Amino acid sequence: MDKDRAELIDILNESISAEYGALFMLPQHMAQVKDADLKKKLQEISRMELEHAEKTAQMILALGGQPVADIPSLRPRNNLQEILEAHLEGERQAIDIYTRAAAKCRDPKLKEALLELKKEEEEHQRILEIAKARLIT
Ligand SMILES: [Fe+2]
Ligand SMILES: [Fe+2]
Repeated sequence: MDKDRAELIDILNESISAEYGALFMLPQHMAQVKDADLKKKLQEISRMELEHAEKTAQMILALGGQPVADIPSLRPRNNLQEILEAHLEGERQAIDIYTRAAAKCRDPKLKEALLELKKEEEEHQRILEIAKARLIT
């Protein structure tokens, strides 16, 4: 296997771990959120992260790799500010991962799919930034 392909597989495995990280935190956080609108948005994000985990696993398999994910430890967050910050950090990480993956990718179709994932993470980031701004004002 060539070096770029092996590196791309490694980056995509980072991405699966990041997607699981979000998926692992979200149910606990949704249970803590009282605002119905924000709860719905988090549910939608959760549905998309699950899709991302599957898509990136498929990409790894198509590249001839093996999907391996680390399950992160779940640290309790005690208020909405902390919850939103934890997810914003996750979205920032995801954006960085898909940016690096797209840069490493030589297949135009796969690159396009990775940039699409990046766009979805940016949309999550935007939703969470708005929710955080509402909290402060
Ligand atoms: Fe995601
Ligand atoms: Fe996301």
